[in-house]
Amino acid sequence: MFALSDSDLKKKFLGCGDGPAAFNSELSKLGGNVVSVDPLYGENGADISQRIDDIFTTVMNQIEQNKTEFCWSEISSPQELSKIRKHAMDMFLLDYDLGRKQSRYQFGALPKLCFTDNTFDLALVSHLLFLYSEHFDFDWHLQSITELLRIADEVRVFPLLELGSQPSRHVGPILDALADQNIDFEVRKVDYEFQKGGNEMLVLRN
Ligand SMILES: C[S@@+](CC[C@H](N)C(=O)[O-])C[C@H]1O[C@@H](n2cnc3c(N)ncnc32)[C@H](O)[C@@H]1O
Repeated sequence: MFALSDSDLKKKFLGCGDGPAAFNSELSKLGGNVVSVDPLYGENGADISQRIDDIFTTVMNQIEQNKTEFCWSEISSPQELSKIRKHAMDMFLLDYDLGRKQSRYQFGALPKLCFTDNTFDLALVSHLLFLYSEHFDFDWHLQSITELLRIADEVRVFPLLELGSQPSRHVGPILDALADQNIDFEVRKVDYEFQKGGNEMLVLRN
């Protein structure tokens, strides 16, 4: 999703809106440096686990119903996706208590985060900005991007689609606003594509 190179993996990461995913757990085991923030991390592991159990089948059924919106090449079927997602969530849950003690999982919510300026080398945001374009307006997106650029030298956002695998309604206006503010950005193609057409990330630099 983020075209991370071996040298990128040595950086100090913020994962924003990481949810019950395995990036933090995997990178930490490899000796990497990563903090994840999410409003979900206000809850304890048992509650998050229950929440996953409650919604997992519904989410997988939605994917099955909207199967044509996704590319089934790397991942061959909704059943395989279900196994991959469950494995990632299990890795997250196994790591969560330790990670919380080590402050690798912290409660936080855009558009305002409690980190000092330039705390991180690289902030990654997957499946939050742009994806929920119907729920979060243009101002929320611009404030969130500005906040991420305050605390990280570089920000990468993936994908640039909203729900329904449509191009996000906010991408064009946000790129115009970034250009007006002379913010250094590029839209870069990546190898990963699961939502059809979702193979681009927005890269922003301080
Ligand atoms: C679809 S999930 C994406 C999880 C993970 N990034 C991934 O790609 O698998 C969206 C995540 O954004 C989190 N979230 C919702 N509102 C947020 C906010 N205002 N700031 C940060 N994260 C938020 C949710 O709790 C959820 O974990």
